[in-house]
Amino acid sequence: MKGVVLAGGLGTRLYPLTKITNKHLLPVYNKPMIYYPIQTLVNAGIEEIMIVTGGNSAGDFLRLLGNGKDFGLKHLNYTYQEGEGGIADALRLVEHFADDDLICVILGDNIIEGNIIKAKQDYEQQGKGAKILLKKVPDPERFGVPELDGERIVRIEEKPKKPKSDYAVTGIYFYDSRVFDIIKTLKPSDRGELEITDVNNRYIEWGEMTWSELEGWWTDAGTFDSLLRASNLVAKTGANNLDMKAG
Ligand code: G1P
Repeated sequence: MKGVVLAGGLGTRLYPLTKITNKHLLPVYNKPMIYYPIQTLVNAGIEEIMIVTGGNSAGDFLRLLGNGKDFGLKHLNYTYQEGEGGIADALRLVEHFADDDLICVILGDNIIEGNIIKAKQDYEQQGKGAKILLKKVPDPERFGVPELDGERIVRIEEKPKKPKSDYAVTGIYFYDSRVFDIIKTLKPSDRGELEITDVNNRYIEWGEMTWSELEGWWTDAGTFDSLLRASNLVAKTGANNLDMKAG
């Protein structure tokens, strides 16, 4: 399985912090934000990784991460997203890299306490379709929210005013190579982006979406409050089952 970290976008919700640099280079406690999602993939045993960047300071990713030595990697792959087309638009750029393998996609501002290796192994067993990780949150209206019928996801709504469950769809997704065919059929949403929720709903319609609940804490870091929360969580308990304080 190959891994993809999506680290593009303009990070407008963090303006002016993101006026001259990319959101994913901002500090979360004692590491640049992007270190955490890369470590999440590496901890799951995924070592072929593509970073999709874009917007400001794209060259700084290369200076910061190089060939991935800090993560025990020999090599990292990079690509550049033009404009602000959304998560699914960024994912479009990795079709060639994925080369028909299964992929694990993680949003560059998603930070977790634990490990996704079990979900990765389950998805490898599944062998095709898609898998997402859900987490109960106090503010689901900020996220993609699944409507559940027992254990089955009926549909996902993006930032619903009246959420149909108290789960958030986290920014960790497993896909087969049909994801690229789906993306080619998407239309921009009201916020002008190709939405990952539309991708996930297609797999749900096909009856090929599974999910599991993420263990340990999870947070995004794309708003002032969640960025502060992320730093506090990492400072208090560490992330990725590592003692990040030691690094
Ligand atoms: C994105 C997705 C949303 C998901 C969230 C997780 O939201 O669109 O479905 O729940 O990431 O971090 P965004 O951060 O683009 O608003």
